[in-house]
Amino acid sequence: MTKLIIANWKSHKSVKAVPTWFEEFHAGLSELSSQGVVSAGAAVETQVVIAPSFPSLAAVNQHLTAYQMGVSVALAVQDVSPFPAGKYTGAVSMQNLEGLPVEYAIVGHSERRRYFHESHVDVAMKVELALASGVTPIVCVDEEYVADQAAAIAPELVAQCIVAYEPLSAIGTGNSVAVDQVVRVKDLVVKSFGEVPFIYGGSVDETNAREYFLVCDGALVATASLAGGQFAKVVACAHSS
Ligand code: PGA
Repeated sequence: MTKLIIANWKSHKSVKAVPTWFEEFHAGLSELSSQGVVSAGAAVETQVVIAPSFPSLAAVNQHLTAYQMGVSVALAVQDVSPFPAGKYTGAVSMQNLEGLPVEYAIVGHSERRRYFHESHVDVAMKVELALASGVTPIVCVDEEYVADQAAAIAPELVAQCIVAYEPLSAIGTGNSVAVDQVVRVKDLVVKSFGEVPFIYGGSVDETNAREYFLVCDGALVATASLAGGQFAKVVACAHSS
């Protein structure tokens, strides 16, 4: 089964740092391939998704690949404007992204909710605009508001989302949550969103990714995605889980 492994670079990295990251990522995958950990035709194919800052989208676009060694690389945005194209200075609309092969949009990350005061309704507006442009929204939720977030999204759109369980206590802290908690929240997500792809994010790295891949469709990875070599090791966990 295909696993979705998303690198959320947040506001790290310059445009010029992108080629080096990919060199390190590919070198890491090649090394793991020589060890037999990842290989062409592997039973598990992995959809790697890179979510850089907006200025680096075009640079990452130069490095997208179809499946090689069982891994394919696609493009995502970390956020999108809740408004359509128009008089919204500083916002990035779905229309602005036309011409770039963006397949996914992370929406409602807790950092957006916390520092930019985004509401469930804002997130629902982003979901609607992303889907209208053929982009799959990855809706980030925490346990206490998963039902409220689903309720804010138009019922006919809910089933088209990917849901990322991102417990606040685990983001960037090194304190990933227990797998049974992830399974419990997965049940809540099924109740409110339906049987949508479900991924986990929060201090995922090469030491713990395997256990999450056993119960989830993938992972949202920030800190452990910042170095290409380390991220390759996280990706390899999907192939050996
Ligand atoms: P982390 O962040 O991997 O650094 O814990 C996860 C996230 O914010 O998506």
